[in-house]
Amino acid sequence: MVSVNAAVIYYSSTGNVHALARAVVEGAEKAGAQVRLRKVAETAPPEAIGARPEWAQHLKDTADVGVAGHEDLEWADVVLFGTPTRFGSPASQLRAFIDTTGPLWFQGKLADKVYSAFTVSNTAHGGQESTLLALGNTFHHWGGIIVPPGYTDPVQFQSGNPYGTSHVAGGNTPPGEVALQAARHQARRAVETAAALKAGRTA
Ligand SMILES: Cc1cc2nc3c(=O)[nH]c(=O)nc-3n(C[C@H](O)[C@H](O)[C@H](O)COP(=O)(O)O)c2cc1C
Repeated sequence: MVSVNAAVIYYSSTGNVHALARAVVEGAEKAGAQVRLRKVAETAPPEAIGARPEWAQHLKDTADVGVAGHEDLEWADVVLFGTPTRFGSPASQLRAFIDTTGPLWFQGKLADKVYSAFTVSNTAHGGQESTLLALGNTFHHWGGIIVPPGYTDPVQFQSGNPYGTSHVAGGNTPPGEVALQAARHQARRAVETAAALKAGRTA
């Protein structure tokens, strides 16, 4: 079995995306990958964060999570991105990181990797698919290989989003076992695809 490097890069204000990201890490590790969990830098002003105690608390709770850098993208064979749904789109914090990757893209260093994405919204029809598809636009530009979960595991018929693991957090309810299982499945599938590609390329 070839060794696969998986980067899980996410943004989370109040912990729900972070909880999915941890399940993604578990799934990737169980599939045999070396895994880096990385948050993107917070860009919101302190007064916005301070106005929501659960946001400030989550920042404190995840102070030990490393901040994503270009070296994480270069290192990874597979990258799984997590973001809240913000007005039907990925969070600006994650976009800000993605928008620094021009030099890597220009050198072709983001091409041929496996990409997959997961999200959290407050409402069931609040834009989970549009958020995930919007991240897909970037993966196309990078020349990435998009590996969505589809309906490739029984848990997908319960979690119900073939575009990527999603959780409805209305009222800040953390993801339950179905969403966490879907996240583990999505990671396993992405890692296994990356491993097959790597083995094929080195054969
Ligand atoms: C500025 C802003 C915009 C949001 N837009 C949406 C939205 O379009 N649809 C939705 O269902 N929830 C929306 N939400 C709720 C967030 O998606 C939800 O609180 C968040 O994803 C929870 O993830 P986290 O705990 O990891 O931060 C929005 C929240 C904020 C602060």
